[in-house]
Amino acid sequence: MTPLLSVEGVSKEFLVRGKRIVALDSITLALEQGEFVTVVGPSGCGKSTLLNLIVGLLSPSAGRILLRGRPINGINPEIGYVTQKDNLLPWRTLVQNVEIALEIRGVDPRERRRRAGVLIQQVGLGGFEGHYPHELSGGMRQRANIIRTLIYEPQLILMDEPFGPLDAQTRIVLQDQLLGLWNAARKTIIFITHDLVEAIALADRVVMMTSRPGKVKSVTGVPIPRPRDVYQIHESPAFRSTHETLWRELRPEVSLAESWRGGIRP
Ligand SMILES: Nc1ncnc2c1ncn2[C@@H]1O[C@H](COP(=O)(O)OP(=O)(O)OP(=O)(O)O)[C@@H](O)[C@H]1O
Ligand SMILES: [Mg+2]
Repeated sequence: MTPLLSVEGVSKEFLVRGKRIVALDSITLALEQGEFVTVVGPSGCGKSTLLNLIVGLLSPSAGRILLRGRPINGINPEIGYVTQKDNLLPWRTLVQNVEIALEIRGVDPRERRRRAGVLIQQVGLGGFEGHYPHELSGGMRQRANIIRTLIYEPQLILMDEPFGPLDAQTRIVLQDQLLGLWNAARKTIIFITHDLVEAIALADRVVMMTSRPGKVKSVTGVPIPRPRDVYQIHESPAFRSTHETLWRELRPEVSLAESWRGGIRP
């Protein structure tokens, strides 16, 4: 069967003030419909670049990207993109922000309000519909940021460290809610994170990248049954062994950053 997404030998180079930067080197990756894949790798290894290529904001220097066997050509409404920084419009209320994609598509106002309402309830934001972004906490804004993408039901959802700036407790709550939403809709998700625990807790498979130029170092299946309890997952033996395997692989990739830290220590 044709995979939903297939990234075939994709490389990306940037020319910055006459200097060639190879951000990604021969990335090959295929995702089946309904899979939840997380991507981990050191800062600067090209994770965001990979998402920008998949969504069609950038084009590859080599290789190709296919959605259901067809080349991606510019921005595709079947692909949703949740960026690290929330892009909520400050002059619109929570519910107006959540329903914006449906408004653009000309969906009937009552229908779009209904669909926004369902999602707002699902992520525990009921009662805050009329609040403006600056009146919401970071975690609430990030929830709104995610559901404003889910509302138009893209088949493939790209998430670039959506929980990055949040505290540990809020992250776990949001991971739990995201798994609930994913379980209900079974869309295909590529989720970037720096956090190995988060990468394992959410994923069917974890893609590990090398430091720049980013290559796929390994792809590891997560043998933890679903539904998962993200609050207790670290206690499971399967979690521990997966974490150990992945940390052994990630360690040499981040050691550069470590030696830099060591260098400035008194
Ligand atoms: N538009 C661009 N123009 C020039 N260079 C770029 C551009 N976008 C990314 N790069 C370079 O490509 C490399 C990969 O960047 P990218 O943002 O994809 O890394 P990342 O893995 O997402 O890092 P982080 O974990 O810090 O977000 C970096 O060296 C970066 O400077
Ligand atoms: Mg990034």
